[in-house]
Amino acid sequence: MQKPTQKAPESNRLMRATAQAPANIALIKFWGKRNETLRLPMNDSISLNLSSASTVTTVEFINNLREDKLILDGLSVTGEEKSRVTKHLNVIREMAKISTKAIVTTNNNFPRGAGMASSASGFAALSKAASVAAGLKLDERQLSILARLGSGSACRSVPDGWVEWKEGKDSNSSYAHSIHNFDYWDICDVIAIVEKEKKKVTSTEGHAIAESSPFYKTRIKDMGGKIKKIKKYIKTKNFTKMGEIVESEALNMHAVMITSKPALIYWNGITLKLMVCVREWREEGLETYFTIDAGPNVHIICRQKDAQTLVKKLKDVEGVVDVVTNEVSRGVHLL
Ligand code: DP6
Repeated sequence: MQKPTQKAPESNRLMRATAQAPANIALIKFWGKRNETLRLPMNDSISLNLSSASTVTTVEFINNLREDKLILDGLSVTGEEKSRVTKHLNVIREMAKISTKAIVTTNNNFPRGAGMASSASGFAALSKAASVAAGLKLDERQLSILARLGSGSACRSVPDGWVEWKEGKDSNSSYAHSIHNFDYWDICDVIAIVEKEKKKVTSTEGHAIAESSPFYKTRIKDMGGKIKKIKKYIKTKNFTKMGEIVESEALNMHAVMITSKPALIYWNGITLKLMVCVREWREEGLETYFTIDAGPNVHIICRQKDAQTLVKKLKDVEGVVDVVTNEVSRGVHLL
């Protein structure tokens, strides 16, 4: 991690700060790491920040506190989740040259356990709130690098709008930047939630076995061309061409997952049903494209003018338990 530009004098330290960060959906996915500890990805990725799925986190460093405390959606949390937060706070404490423990209070505006990605918004919000509370003045790039150390995709929740994460050569060059602002194009991501259970195999565990798929090498080899194309179609606002890449990219990543050892099947029956529906609706004239992360929920990319029609149709599909409509939003910010 590069040194922050300036360290605040002791007296200027806030010791408490609150930040809000959006979840993001990748149009081109990050799957597989070059370096597990630094969470360096095997490839560049591209995402949209989501307006209706965000995390608000308050970090307060308190003198004489014996250990960090994590309160997640109103519940005091211990175990794996808390260790990951403490590990991240340790990185920040080392940068700020402090040893004070903290109370971290974090709330998601989407239902806990609904299977929507929370680590990206969670670590982006934690990085911003904790670094400010510790008196660090990080620029966007430094903050994105810091968030990446907590969860890879969290680096994409730092900049505004349409975001690209360059894999980089090392930790200092692997960060995300905005390619277009949130109001660039009237695109929506409608999420069909089909399962409220927590996923059984985390993405961290999934990344670790990506290379065991016989298709992984081909996926990575083709990545450069794919990124170049989608950036061109986003730039020219060619929705059809962009959507075709988004859908085939999701299937490509899941082909790798399904053929990993052991096989990772994140879909359930409703996921498959929705994939078929989206393709049928498209034939009928409702132009939408699906993408799916490491879970069974289906994200459907559409134009704003079609969002309401899509939501209605999704609510009629048996097995869909909730529908969340997102516009493209800004990145992490202080509250
Ligand atoms: C399928 O960023 O959650 O959502 O660094 O291990 O926390 P860790 O992984 P994470 O992986 C995201 C995987 C994905 C694709 C993506 O968002 O690009």
